[in-house]
Amino acid sequence: MKFILFCFALFLFCWTSTCTINRQAGFPFEAPDLLYPAKIDLNIKDKSNDQKKPKLTEQQVRGKKLFRRNCASCHRRNMVDDMTGPALRGVTKRWEGRETLLYAWIKNSQAVIASGDAYATALYKEWDNSEMNAFPKLTDEDILDLLSYIERE
Ligand code: HEC
Repeated sequence: MKFILFCFALFLFCWTSTCTINRQAGFPFEAPDLLYPAKIDLNIKDKSNDQKKPKLTEQQVRGKKLFRRNCASCHRRNMVDDMTGPALRGVTKRWEGRETLLYAWIKNSQAVIASGDAYATALYKEWDNSEMNAFPKLTDEDILDLLSYIERE
């Protein structure tokens, strides 16, 4: 008999305590959010927004291809360290107001040096007279694509 009473008391105790817990969670009167996974913010980060750099534009994608094919053997791909040739980031600033000459340089740097341009001559000397390849086949549009890739943030 004592045992039955004990069991009953135990049952009562458990029942009331679960009721309190459930009531705290609003259950069963108001189902807690946990029952509805759709409401739960899993906080999964959108990987595409998580990259340090913004996605390349179509123009920059074209520029990247051209860069890898023609320039990456001498100019570092990270654009900020020197290699056989100087780091290219900031190059449009260095040639500001002289864009036509910059385009001419990329097509044929030796011709620009031969024209006697002071900046070009100094740069050539600074790099121990090492010659950059000529790229007569690159169009102005190609060069625009290249510069847009080189200067991307
Ligand atoms: C064979 C190596 C080589 C290749 C390939 C090359 N460059 Fe160069 N580049 C150089 C060197 C070396 C210089 C430094 C000037 C000099 O010595 O003629 C230079 C300088 C430059 C400059 C001037 C940098 C400044 O700070 O004003 C630009 C712009 C440039 N290169 C763009 C390009 C582009 C764009 C390509 C690809 C289409 C390319 N280079 C391919 C070697 C190269």
